[in-house]
Amino acid sequence: MAQWQRTHTCGQLRSSDAGKTVTLCGWVHAYRDHGGLVFVDLRDRYGLTQVVFDPSAGAAMHALARELRTEWVVSVTGTVTLRPEGTRNPKLATGDIEVRAQSLEILNRADTPPFEISSDEAVHEEVRLRYRYLDLRRPALQQVLILRHRLNKIVHRYFDESGFIEVETPMLGRSTPEGARDYLVPSRLHRGCWYALPQSPQLYKQILMVAGFDRYYQIARCLRDEDLRADRQPEFTQLDIEMSFVEMQDVMQVIEGFLVRVFGELLGYNISLPLPRLSYNEVMRKYGTDKPDLRFGMEIVDITDLVSNTEFRVFRQAVEQGGIIRGICVRQSADRYSRKRLEELEEFAKRYGAKGLAWLKVEVDKFSSPIEKFIPAGVQQSLRERFQAQPGDMLLFVADSEKIVCDSLAALRNHLAAELGLIRPGQFALAWVIDFPLLVWDEEENRWVANHHPFTSPVDEDLPYLETKPGTVRAKAYDLVVNGYELGGGSIRIHRPEVQQRVFRMIGLDDEQARKRFGFLLDALRFGAPPHGGIALGMDRLVMLLAGLSSIRDGIAFPKTQRAQDLMTGAPAPVDIKQLKELGLA
Ligand code: AMO
Ligand code: AMP
Repeated sequence: MAQWQRTHTCGQLRSSDAGKTVTLCGWVHAYRDHGGLVFVDLRDRYGLTQVVFDPSAGAAMHALARELRTEWVVSVTGTVTLRPEGTRNPKLATGDIEVRAQSLEILNRADTPPFEISSDEAVHEEVRLRYRYLDLRRPALQQVLILRHRLNKIVHRYFDESGFIEVETPMLGRSTPEGARDYLVPSRLHRGCWYALPQSPQLYKQILMVAGFDRYYQIARCLRDEDLRADRQPEFTQLDIEMSFVEMQDVMQVIEGFLVRVFGELLGYNISLPLPRLSYNEVMRKYGTDKPDLRFGMEIVDITDLVSNTEFRVFRQAVEQGGIIRGICVRQSADRYSRKRLEELEEFAKRYGAKGLAWLKVEVDKFSSPIEKFIPAGVQQSLRERFQAQPGDMLLFVADSEKIVCDSLAALRNHLAAELGLIRPGQFALAWVIDFPLLVWDEEENRWVANHHPFTSPVDEDLPYLETKPGTVRAKAYDLVVNGYELGGGSIRIHRPEVQQRVFRMIGLDDEQARKRFGFLLDALRFGAPPHGGIALGMDRLVMLLAGLSSIRDGIAFPKTQRAQDLMTGAPAPVDIKQLKELGLA
């Protein structure tokens, strides 16, 4: 053992260690030079320990100590000493002791960091990402990565105990059908041919079922070249599951057991089972989105029937154009919304396509609103009843196509909940959304497209209507929704080749095209495919939720920006012409 190597970590020493000679290694977190005594807080990922350099312990060492600056890496040998009464720090695990230095070795100096590691001050994210190794030294981020590590441990333990086998699937493969753009990799050996990086292990895991692995799991890296948002990364991690001889309930139960473990062990948070199962139609109607935040109410209410014949031009015209009118009731907050703040809400709604935002403030015997005069007394009474509105409440309405009404009210609902503080910190609302439509009509492409992916099985009793009433056919699919995020999604798959062929035809893939893209899967399905299904949870989103983060990037060691760049390494970057020539691309 070299002389500078540590005997303890910086989070380890307690009063019971007093008198011991120890060696600590770490980074200079903070220093205070009192002319005589020099105090240094030494940091590693385990904690902080106060080190004291006394001139009487050696002039040379003391002089060296006075040179120390933040983030230098040092090794200190000294004696563990109880701190004098009155100078103990109860906030620090090591706060009862300090180390009186006998020797100091500087292992490495550091440039002045671009931001302080020791403070929680907000630093511009670009700077944090550029110097990610410094950002990762900050205790808050270290805690997140440690949490993520513990989550991965639970994954392996839980699925192993439940009889699942971990199988790794390739990164270089054929295009997978998750609906995003592929990242492509040119083949050097096969000019003009390309690998696609996996958007998910979907096809491989289905093929593992054909191979008889009946319970598979993997913590899988997935790559999708799509437009990024706060909860999306081009490269992300899924907990990927597939099971044979199962129906929806079985997959959902396995995941529910996993979630109980995760929330219990990591947060001490009790999840009660079974999780609510809500139908797609119901959540779209009540919340305007298939990933509703269920931590608060403020459900959307349809009033088309009540107001379509009123004098209010906006409502009448919307209905004439085939639209609808829906609204929300914001309880006991009418007095918090001045004209100006209502205009801000209107601007917010307009970002989601709404043409305006009509409002009514509920008073004891009337409504106050510029549109009140257009609404007959009888209708006013019906509105009160339908919203169960009380004096002090505020009603907000959007009249438009169903899509715009849903989008804008869903966004407004979340916006108002945050603005009004309706969400308790540390609260979680988990639910399954089921009964999704199998196919949705794509206006741009003018054809049916798979709502999840084209291997999703239709509900048995709806199968006869696949060709005649495609829009009404439900899928055996389930999404897991947590606090307004889609945490996971999965389905029972089609295991019979003829059903697969019918679905492909419905989405405009003729037999030849289907063979070209997924021939290997279709072949596999003809060799004794068991009924099977599975799911994938977004691990980065799970970490974000567990750690209470507002961005997915803070749960990832080396994330990319919204523009898919790695600011630390500078990827993506141009490459040598030589490399391109080898690939036949120059
Ligand atoms: P899906 O495409 O719904 O399903 O993805 C599953 C889960 O992965 C997470 N996720 C993402 N997380 C971060 N950044 C992204 N760009 C991103 N895209 C998806 C989400 C999502 O719920 N093969 C199917 C699963 C299955 O059917 O078994 C699939 O990939 O949390
Ligand atoms: P206007 O007659 O356009 O001045 O609108 C009167 C009120 O109706 C304003 O408060 C608008 O914000 C609101 N409004 C306009 N269009 C819509 C709409 N499509 N849905 C809901 N409210 C609307």
